[in-house]
Amino acid sequence: MRTQIVVGNWKMNNSISESIALAEAVAAGIADIPLNCEAGIAPAFPALGQVASAISRSPLQLAAQNCHFEDNGAYTGEVSTSMLKSAGCSWVILGHSERRQYFGEDNQVVNRKVKKALAAGLKVILCVGETLEERESGVTETIVNTQVREGLQGVDDVSRLVIAYEPVWAIGTGKTASKEQAEEVHASIRATLSELYGSQTAEGIRIQYGGSVKPSNASELFAMPNIDGGLIGGASLKPEDFIAILTACK
Ligand code: 13P
Repeated sequence: MRTQIVVGNWKMNNSISESIALAEAVAAGIADIPLNCEAGIAPAFPALGQVASAISRSPLQLAAQNCHFEDNGAYTGEVSTSMLKSAGCSWVILGHSERRQYFGEDNQVVNRKVKKALAAGLKVILCVGETLEERESGVTETIVNTQVREGLQGVDDVSRLVIAYEPVWAIGTGKTASKEQAEEVHASIRATLSELYGSQTAEGIRIQYGGSVKPSNASELFAMPNIDGGLIGGASLKPEDFIAILTACK
């Protein structure tokens, strides 16, 4: 039985003080309720250290939204895995479609980051997903499974890996994949993981769904057999919505 995992991806939102306030509100909101899942938040880089302190007595885990694939050096503007760990992160989100779309990250770059982050001892959320055009041309599973295969090239130990299936057309659009659409792709990803790592290992890997998850649709998505929680964008910026989504875990 996989423990579901819900992570709030705050993207490029909130000042440091706003981030602390949001983290404190979520931590306070979940303090007295039994959580059936792992829960995390991913603030922007400048807020990581102070948010780490704000959630130090809460079950919330800290995630970063990106990292570089080198240890250090002349990479202006980049952040290394050791910097993330020193800021208190245990997770890093990699290969998000916004990184792929706006910052030119391809499967090879994502793969280098995944290997570096895992080698550094971080836990990784590897994001995959198709565009609307790809879905309409009927290549969803080919695209997504290629992202999985190439993103995991040379990765042997997947014990600290989570996959997030985020259809690009569902991100920030209010248009959620139906539970059946999402489940179909999640099952296909699990079949690919089974080919790569064997069925027993594949059964243990969590696959989150992301894309316009809200309190109103979280329960039905999270009830599907291959959906193991969510990666939440917009709704994670509202503490009451994020907490409602956390409580939707089975
Ligand atoms: P929304 O929940 O805002 O659609 O964003 C999803 C996402 O991209 C999380 O990483």
